[in-house]
Amino acid sequence: MKTFISTPIYYVNDVPHIGHAYTTLIGDMLKKYHQLLGEEVFFLTGTDEHGQKIEQSALAKGKTPKEYADEISAKFKNLWDEFGIDYDCFIRTTDDYHCQSVQKAFEKMYQKGDIYKGEYEGRYCVSCESFFTETQAVQGKCPDCGKDTIILREESYFFALSKYQEKLLQWYEDNPDCILPLHKKNEVVRFVENGLNDLSITRTSFEWGIKLPESIGDFKHVMYVWLDALLNYVSALGYGGDEKKMDFWKNPIHIVGKDILRFHAVYWPAFLMSLGLDLPKHIYTHGWWTRDGVKMSKSIGNVIDPKEVAQAYGVEVLRYFLMREVPFGQDGDFSQKALVDRINSDLSNDLGNLVNRLIGMSEKYFNLKISLADTTKYYQAELKFLNDILGKLPPLMEQMQLSRYLEELWRAFVLANGVISKYEPWSLIKQNREEECLALLGLVATILGKASLCLYPIMPATALKIAHCLKIEISHQSYQKLILNQELPQDFTIEKIDPLFPKIDSFKMEEAKIEKSKTIDVQTLINIEDFSKLDIRIGTIIEATKIAKSDKLLKLQVDLGEGRLRQIVSGIAKFYAPHDLIGTQVCVLANLKSVKLMGEMSEGMVLATKDEKGLSLLCTSDKKTNGSKVS
Ligand code: MSP
Repeated sequence: MKTFISTPIYYVNDVPHIGHAYTTLIGDMLKKYHQLLGEEVFFLTGTDEHGQKIEQSALAKGKTPKEYADEISAKFKNLWDEFGIDYDCFIRTTDDYHCQSVQKAFEKMYQKGDIYKGEYEGRYCVSCESFFTETQAVQGKCPDCGKDTIILREESYFFALSKYQEKLLQWYEDNPDCILPLHKKNEVVRFVENGLNDLSITRTSFEWGIKLPESIGDFKHVMYVWLDALLNYVSALGYGGDEKKMDFWKNPIHIVGKDILRFHAVYWPAFLMSLGLDLPKHIYTHGWWTRDGVKMSKSIGNVIDPKEVAQAYGVEVLRYFLMREVPFGQDGDFSQKALVDRINSDLSNDLGNLVNRLIGMSEKYFNLKISLADTTKYYQAELKFLNDILGKLPPLMEQMQLSRYLEELWRAFVLANGVISKYEPWSLIKQNREEECLALLGLVATILGKASLCLYPIMPATALKIAHCLKIEISHQSYQKLILNQELPQDFTIEKIDPLFPKIDSFKMEEAKIEKSKTIDVQTLINIEDFSKLDIRIGTIIEATKIAKSDKLLKLQVDLGEGRLRQIVSGIAKFYAPHDLIGTQVCVLANLKSVKLMGEMSEGMVLATKDEKGLSLLCTSDKKTNGSKVS
């Protein structure tokens, strides 16, 4: 079976940071996992080099866009090479074959009648390279990144996205796992249900992009960067060219951050339908790595350099930490302390010590030769327990529950350490129960051997070291035999290896580099006079209704003790049902200038706090008189 796995292609206006490394390491991990399953994998990564944003960044640096792209693209490629990322192709959207492939795709969609010429008028966020309507861009700000949008009025070609609305909804329904985690899929479905506008897919106001095909002959247009970028997934396989690798396009798997899900889960499948190509099997959507709760990005200045972390602690540790620490799909704060805690507890205590103990005892008692002849006789229950644990892993991987996968896998190491403490090989030897002791070390070696196969995708070098120590092979054949068929390995001849994860007693990276986020440093302090400008009051929600065409907004009528009700539009619809809000007391910023949101007047703002579970309204601990001031 052939499998295709991709990371997003990275914009060349940012240097690689932990967020990018996370996506790429997960891609590499998935490739290794699918190879264990016996699949032939094509793993694609690369850089996204066109568009207005890149053109502007290059200009600011006094370089041509291509010079600028060459420099940053190399940084990504070099880092992945240093990390030993096993990609099959590193694509650059400035590569000729990609540009030709994009033009072929454009031609095909045009011939099919899915592309037409018109005029675009609306808001555009250069930073996100995204189009918005006036109502979406409240006060001219991008609803995704909060930066100012620009007003665009230009001739444009459109992709008939609206035509695909029903087909997309059908696809989501027929393929429950096409977007994971599921709550992300639900957001996409709601977005599409609210109606899709046709998509402007060309621009005339700048040059740095792929020109339209000769056959269309409209040379002042360049392609919209997202059309260009998304098509990298098939151009890398030869689409519209030699088509040599297109047979990998059967079960495509994409890994994306939550900020670019809409492009992958709405636009991309619609483009694929238009081209008559298969749709993705999974779009795995991860959250953001943050510093003090703020998304890591160069423009904010709070990035952590993955190279520095790898130099200090090793790539294996970085892989483990990123995949174990935060449940896939959620945001997580990067902290050196958490990383060192993981090394000392999970890696050193649970795993490294276990390997040392096995080597030590097998050398002392059995001259490094471990026979499994009696392991089933004495430790049947433990072997069954082991197989139960390992049997839970494949579905967790399929659902991309990586942190849970590792948690379960670690139960196997805990089991091995537990049987050593429980049955005490040294006591068995003292009591001349050699046969039982040998069987016990056989059990421990079996646990380690099987678990190292399951650890391989996440920590390949570590798994290979353990496999070398036990002389087992990490391959599809042994995965099939030992994990999927739950068979026992051969007898072991142990090879001594160096300790895997020595304990760490102090941080290896300068704290200033990793623990202090510039977001805190640059935060400006306010004085009490500034605060007193905010008129925050307690009010009771009297009425709450949904706003048609918006999955985020609710229209509230709030009593602030003013003798009239205030209408406030609030972005809490995903977290509260309207009827549950009636009678709730909330904090309201009462002296905020009124604005119109989705055609509804909003006179103030209801205060809420946000964490990974979503928004929660700020309330007082007991009932207060409406209109009471918060100070
Ligand atoms: N060029 C587009 C993708 C086009 S794919 C056809 C793009 N590039 S990006 O460089 O801005 O982001 C690439 C990936 O890195 C995205 O999946 C994004 O979510 C991820 N990350 C960027 N910053 C991140 C964090 N701070 N944390 C985790 N991942 C984040 O979007």
